[in-house]
Amino acid sequence: MASPRRESRRVTASERIGLYTMLRVERGRLEAGLPGQFFMLDVPGHVMSRPFSICLARKEELVFLINPVGPATHTLCELQRGQTIGVFGPLGNGFRTDVARPLLVGGGIGVASLPYAAQVMGNPPTVLGFRTSRQAEAAELIPKAEVCIEPKLVTELIPASAVDVLACGPEPMLHAVHALAPDAQMAWEAPMACGFGACYGCVVEVGGGSRRLCVEGPVINGRPPSSPVIYDEAAEAAGAEAEA
Ligand code: FES
Repeated sequence: MASPRRESRRVTASERIGLYTMLRVERGRLEAGLPGQFFMLDVPGHVMSRPFSICLARKEELVFLINPVGPATHTLCELQRGQTIGVFGPLGNGFRTDVARPLLVGGGIGVASLPYAAQVMGNPPTVLGFRTSRQAEAAELIPKAEVCIEPKLVTELIPASAVDVLACGPEPMLHAVHALAPDAQMAWEAPMACGFGACYGCVVEVGGGSRRLCVEGPVINGRPPSSPVIYDEAAEAAGAEAEA
């Protein structure tokens, strides 16, 4: 298991891919960890760091895919080459990649953790679902991915034959995937403040017990959380503005 480190790293590039931004940062001594693990990125001008899955790992850089839905993510998407940000990771539980019949399943920004999984696993079959064609441009990050756009759902692309599913996407998609593939490994999103188990801000209920998604997830096998886990930065930002 890779040891997390906290380092200041320079941004090497920021590129648009459809509606999303690929933020590239110098890797330095940071280990990439496993697909499905995440890093906390400091956000200039914001108190709290934000969690992002590792999207791609190169020898010299780590790549994160960011959906600009609120003030913090907009700030990250506007970073320029040469600026410096704090990076802490890799954190959490990643995907097991030594499976016999892998199928990567992604929905929306959940695609973010799958390019690295595809890289590590030798480009296994992949199905991706998006709401719009602009979002679907991110599918180019995964060679040969099969893509659908709503109203068609990505669960319609999952074959009836038994496969080993590794999934990341919105909460309703993950519950639908679980119904089709009860043993699927699924990466969940939750609000996270510390990223290493100290603040209990990411607790969800799984099988009658409480789990901190940052240390016992974000990848959970089989049983999905029974409490809502969705982290919606846009809703949080709207709430903050309404309170102001
Ligand atoms: Fe702090 Fe999980 S984010 S305990």
